Amino acid sequence: MQVSDSSSRILAGLLEARTGQQLTMSRRWRIETALAALLRERGIPTLDELITILVMGREPSLATQVVEALLNNETYFFRDRAPFDLLARAALPKLAQARQQTRRITIWSAGCSTGQEAYSLAMMFAEDPVKWSGWTIDILGTDVSDCVIRRAREGAYSQFEVQRGLGITQMIRWFEETENGWRAIEPLRRMVRFQPQNLLEPPPHPGKFDIVLCRNVLLYLNSERRGLIFDRIAGAMPDDGYLMLGAGETVIGQTRRFEADPDARGLYRPVGTAEDRRSGGERRTATG
Ligand SMILES: C[S@@+](CC[C@H](N)C(=O)[O-])C[C@H]1O[C@@H](n2cnc3c(N)ncnc32)[C@H](O)[C@@H]1O
Repeated sequence: MQVSDSSSRILAGLLEARTGQQLTMSRRWRIETALAALLRERGIPTLDELITILVMGREPSLATQVVEALLNNETYFFRDRAPFDLLARAALPKLAQARQQTRRITIWSAGCSTGQEAYSLAMMFAEDPVKWSGWTIDILGTDVSDCVIRRAREGAYSQFEVQRGLGITQMIRWFEETENGWRAIEPLRRMVRFQPQNLLEPPPHPGKFDIVLCRNVLLYLNSERRGLIFDRIAGAMPDDGYLMLGAGETVIGQTRRFEADPDARGLYRPVGTAEDRRSGGERRTATG
C-alpha cells in the first residue's frame, strides 16, 4: 500500500487538528503500518478510498478511529524507572509533610495511554501501606484516545505487556492471571480512575493536582501548543506541586510557569501564585 503525498498530508492534518500531534515528513512512514489493521477491519481496500470517505464526511466515527490508530501509545510499567524513584525519594516525603491535615494526594497522569503509568504510581503507594495508611491517594489517568482509556479501565494486559517494567514479584502481587493474560487486582484498580481528556482543552479540576506526569506526550506538538499546555498544567497545580516529564523532555524555554527543582533534578515546580498561573494559560489563549 503506497501513501501518496496528498493522502499523507490529509491524514497528518487530521491528526494535528484533533490532537496537536505533528506527523513530520520523517515520521510519515508510520501511516501505512498504523492504518493497515483498520483498513482490513473496515473492508476499505486502499488509503485513497479511506481519504475519500473521510473527506466526504460520511462516517464521522471513522475519522476518530483513524486518529486513534495514528497516535503513538507506546508505554510500559515504571517507564525509565529512575523518575519514579526520584518521586518517591524527593517529592513524596515533602508532600506527605505538607498534606498532614488533609491526608490526601491527588495525581494526574496526562496522556496515560493504556494505564501502565497510573498503575505504576498506584503500586508505589500500595507497596508502602504503613506510611500511607489513612491517606486518600487519588490517581487520575487521562488520554485523548477513548480506546486506550477503555483498556486502561480494564487494567488487562498481555503476558508481554505485563512483563515490560515489572519484576516477577510485582507481577504476581498486583496482577491475576486471566484467560488472555493478566489483570490488575481489584484493590489496585480501585486506586486509579481514567477519563478521556484532550490536552488541547483546559485541564480537569484546576488547582488540584499535587503531582502531574505528562511524559512522552508533547514531543511532537509545536512549541506554541506545548507552551500553552504547560501553562495550563501549572494552573492545575498548587504552589508546592511537582511536574514530571519524560526522559529528555524539559519545560526550560517552553513556559515561564515552571522551573527545575534544584533539590530534585528531573522534577519541575510551578512558579508564581496559583491565581496568576490559572489566569496565565487562558490569557495566553485569548491573546493567541
Ligand atoms: C507515547 S504515549 C506515553 C504514555 C505514558 N505517558 C508514558 O510515558 O509511558 C503518549 C500518549 O499521549 C496521548 N496523547 C497524544 N496527544 C494527546 C492530547 N492532545 N491529549 C491527550 N493525550 C494525548 C496518546 O494517545 C498516547 O496514549
